[in-house]
Parts: sequence; C-alpha cells; structure tokens
Amino acid sequence: MKLMKNDLLLWMEKTNEKIQENKGYLTTLDQAIGDGDHGINMARGFQEVVNKISIANYESISDCLKDIAMILLSKVGGASGPLYGTAFLRMSNGIKGKQIVDKESFTTAIDEAINGMVQRGKAKVGDKTLLDVWLPVLKYLKESSYIDWNEFEQVAKLSMESTKDLIAIKGRASYLKERSIGHLDPGSVSSYLLFQALSEVAREAEK
Ligand SMILES: Nc1ncnc2c1ncn2[C@@H]1O[C@H](COP(=O)(O)OP(=O)(O)O)[C@@H](O)[C@H]1O
Ligand SMILES: [Mg+2]
Repeated sequence: MKLMKNDLLLWMEKTNEKIQENKGYLTTLDQAIGDGDHGINMARGFQEVVNKISIANYESISDCLKDIAMILLSKVGGASGPLYGTAFLRMSNGIKGKQIVDKESFTTAIDEAINGMVQRGKAKVGDKTLLDVWLPVLKYLKESSYIDWNEFEQVAKLSMESTKDLIAIKGRASYLKERSIGHLDPGSVSSYLLFQALSEVAREAEK
C-alpha cells in the first residue's frame, strides 16, 4: 500500500459521491432508529470537504486530513460530526511527517482514530455504532500481512451488516432498546461507504 496526497483527494471525492447517492438511504435508516438527519448531515459535510480540498493546496497529507477534520467538525453536526471530525484529526496526527501512507502508518492512523472516537463517545464493540465497522477494519489491518482491498471492503461490509442484529447501547438509537434490533446502524453504513470508497481508490492506485 502506497497512498499519496492525490489519493486522499480521490478518496474524499469518491466518499462524497457515495454519500450523496445514499443520502436518502442514510436518512431512512436514521428515521427508523434515530432522528432522520444522518444523510443530510453527512452529505453537507462531505460536499464541503470536497469543495474545499479540491482547490486548496496542502503541504502534506497530514495537513489535508486536519483540514478535513475541521470541516467535518463544523459542518456535519449531530453525534456523528464530532466523531468523524475526531477520527480525521487523529488520523492526521497518526501520519504526521509522512508523504506516503503505507500499511503501517495507515494502521496507526486508524488505531488513533478509534482511540479518539472511543474517548469522545465512550462506545464499546457491539454497542451498534460506527465503531462496529472501524474496530473489525483495524483488526483486519493488524492481522493481515498485506492489505487485500477486496477483503478489506468485505470486512467493512460484513461488519456493517452485523449491526442489524445488535441492540443500541449508545446514541439516540439506544432510547429504543430492543426495538433497535432489526435495523442497520446509520453511522456504520456511512463508515462502510467511507471504507468502500478507500478500497476502490487503493485498487485503482495499485494498477
Ligand atoms: N457514543 C457514540 N459512539 C460512537 N458512535 C456513535 C455514538 N453515538 C452515535 N454514534 C453514531 O452516530 C450515528 C448517528 O449520527 P447522526 O444521526 O448524524 O447524529 P444524531 O444521533 O445526533 O442525530 C449513529 O448511527 C452511530 O453510528
Ligand atoms: Mg440522527
């Protein structure tokens, strides 16, 4: 794995495309177990990310990730805005000084992102939050000797799907208790889209 600054832009563009395409779907999911704003929140945030980073010039990948974090923090809102903002801020710190992101620095970045989100949201594995996608992704990165991006995407997908059977312990969906069972967690679906977009960009970069 070797990702450069331009790949980060491609990752954000592809993520934004997927979020915009799935804006209604994310909203529907959040209507079932939340307040129905997740699609709107994410679409607003990632559109702004792409608008800004496609014209700005950053010295490093870390600087670009930091700006993405600031945009998400100020534009997404809800519970997910501060969480995604924190994730990107920690990723920025995790790869400070690198011009190329390799498997090792990427793993560190994801690990740090998770630490930040856990500190903020206090969620654990199985609480039916976006961490139920991030944690298995980290496990895959730590346990594999190289990243097979098809496998990576599959791990994110299966983890996202597994949130359907869980009871929500954190966030708005937790008010529903057992009634949250049978619905996908909206934040896990947006995180899956983020990782799906990354696998597509990484596969393209490896060609
Ligand atoms: N404490 C938490 N820790 C981790 N993720 C959380 C937490 N609370 C909520 N989430 C995630 O945020 C998503 C909801 O985001 P969103 O709808 O934008 O915010 P809100 O719940 O404030 O309306 C959930 O589907 C879940 O994945
Ligand atoms: Mg919501």
